[in-house]
Amino acid sequence: MSDRYIDFANSSLGHRLVAAIGLPSPVRLERWQAGRLRPVEGALLIGGGGLATKVMAFANKLTDAVYSYGPEPSAAPAWIPGHGPKLKAVLFDASQLQHTDQLKQLREFFQPLLKNLDHSPHLVILGRAPESLGDPFAASAQRALEGFSRSLAKELRSGGTLQLLYVDDGAEDQLEGALRFFLSPKSAYVSGQVIRLNACATQVQDWTRPLAGNKALVTGAARGIGAAIAETLARDGAEVILLDVPQAKADLDALAARLGGRSIALDICAEDAATQLIEELPDGIDIVVHNAGITRDKTLANMTPEYWDAVLAVNLNAPQVLTKTLLDSATLHDNGRVVLLASISGIAGNRGQTNYAASKAGLIGLAQAWAPLLKERGISINAVAPGFIETQMTAHIPFALREAGRRMSSLGQGGLPQDVAEAVAWLGQPGSGAVSGQVLRVCGQSLLGA
Ligand SMILES: NC(=O)c1ccc[n+]([C@@H]2O[C@H](COP(=O)([O-])OP(=O)(O)OC[C@H]3O[C@@H](n4cnc5c(N)ncnc54)[C@H](O)[C@@H]3O)[C@@H](O)[C@H]2O)c1
Repeated sequence: MSDRYIDFANSSLGHRLVAAIGLPSPVRLERWQAGRLRPVEGALLIGGGGLATKVMAFANKLTDAVYSYGPEPSAAPAWIPGHGPKLKAVLFDASQLQHTDQLKQLREFFQPLLKNLDHSPHLVILGRAPESLGDPFAASAQRALEGFSRSLAKELRSGGTLQLLYVDDGAEDQLEGALRFFLSPKSAYVSGQVIRLNACATQVQDWTRPLAGNKALVTGAARGIGAAIAETLARDGAEVILLDVPQAKADLDALAARLGGRSIALDICAEDAATQLIEELPDGIDIVVHNAGITRDKTLANMTPEYWDAVLAVNLNAPQVLTKTLLDSATLHDNGRVVLLASISGIAGNRGQTNYAASKAGLIGLAQAWAPLLKERGISINAVAPGFIETQMTAHIPFALREAGRRMSSLGQGGLPQDVAEAVAWLGQPGSGAVSGQVLRVCGQSLLGA
């Protein structure tokens, strides 16, 4: 469903009116276009500690306009506030900040550039995970980065986003993959997130097709977010296997044919679903995306057993049973990637969604509990939690609630299925074993559960 308010707010009359009466003025976000090569089209500013030097070493692969800022000498030309170009991307390494008085470096670095940001800029702060530090003051300084970055993300305008990446020792090799996502329009609708990067033995070989050589299974792929995930994984070089209920077979087959993939018409709650799935995947798979999901909303006072059971069966039990079978049968290869589609409802709770929110929170718990057990096999498991995404599911929400869902976020609008798909595609990459047992929200920094 299209968001007419954004069209209005970006028209010349609407723009003036919206500004005059102080209404939210969401901008049209820049998104990744197929065929684009450079993650950053414009100036990238790099500053801060030692990790900044590591990023400098590959920064010319991200853009051809790299600048430095700060006291440290650098190979890149210095950026001068008010004179340098508008900034499309900014990276600041704050991992060396160990004391409260050093935190002022954040203000000193970011303040001069905030009025020099381009449209839809992407900012990233690097740090060290507080729990990995022995010194309580250093851990406190690193934890302070979370409050700073989530707040600054809320202050950005023009579709700007900001994330904090805690980079573990040995995870520096995976920075390029993470920055290709977080500094580019692939993360257009991701903001205010805190992600931990750990060491990972596998690497992307070809950045134009980061998923080449991988087989990916996507459930609920006939429409909406699942269809966008299948398209994006195929764009990135994966061989896609699309699964949906038998009633959706016509749409599923058409999409599979267009993407050069294969389809499986199967109800994931069928009694023999796990056995059927294994039979359909004799060569195994590398990526599984549990996207199929349903809502059956009622307040708990009016919740029927049927509504409760249906949601828990599709959204939580099926991903649990199918993933276990794929793992036990080694159908999911070593170094595989599992992505579970959760929801911010599972984080914040939502009136009328006790069943849905329980199922989505359960998926988050599943990722967190399973991640350490799968580490030895190099398998990662993560949850992606979308906020308000423009699909058939959200088109059915009553008007007032729908408007609230769209505007109650830092970016002031709903996301697109592509936004969720880009996050899933990044987590599916060989190098993204660096992230496991985590939740990545794709919600425009929704105020719900923030
Ligand atoms: N749209 C949003 O704003 C939003 C927000 C948060 C989370 N999500 C989650 O993202 C996922 C996709 O959402 P969507 O908006 O694209 O939904 P959708 O209703 O448009 O599509 C869901 C797909 O899953 C399939 N499916 C349902 N039950 C199935 C079953 N038993 N077996 C196989 N396939 C089945 C459906 O046929 C459908 O094609 C869901 O898990 C949803 O909970 C969506």
